[in-house]
Amino acid sequence: MRTVITYGTYDLLHYGHIELLRRAKEMAGGGRLIVGVSTDEFNTQKGKTSHFEYSKRKKMVEAIRYVDLVIPEEDWSQKPADIQHHSVDLFVMGDDWQGEFDDLSAFCEVAYISRTPEISSTVIKQAIHQTAPKNKDAGHE
Ligand code: CTP
Repeated sequence: MRTVITYGTYDLLHYGHIELLRRAKEMAGGGRLIVGVSTDEFNTQKGKTSHFEYSKRKKMVEAIRYVDLVIPEEDWSQKPADIQHHSVDLFVMGDDWQGEFDDLSAFCEVAYISRTPEISSTVIKQAIHQTAPKNKDAGHE
């Protein structure tokens, strides 16, 4: 039984997120999965704008049965303190972050797992934008 931690924005929750969280929980071997959800302020620092605000993204991630605890991700430097505070054994991220967090191996095991292809919050936003009616009257006969 291990404690696993992962981080992300988790905007417009989709099956790629669910799959990542399912596999992260599996890696805990019956133990805990903690998710650091990026705050709106941290998203701004990362150059991201989410559709849903932090409190709503937090609620959605908390509702996923693989997730035991959601904490705020407020800056790039908090991870070692989180790992120590929550006695984390394994840090997991999707492989779009491959190599980026290798320094954390001083504190716990680090693993990158393959992303689900062809889906992301950005892809959903683009798809909705392309199919949305051009004005408020569109779609009414
Ligand atoms: N993730 C995944 N497969 C996807 C999309 C995301 O495994 N198709 C993983 C990421 O690797 C990360 C976590 O889900 O570990 C949260 O990613 P996040 O950046 O919030 O989601 P994206 O959909 O990639 O968002 P964006 O398009 O804004 O980058």
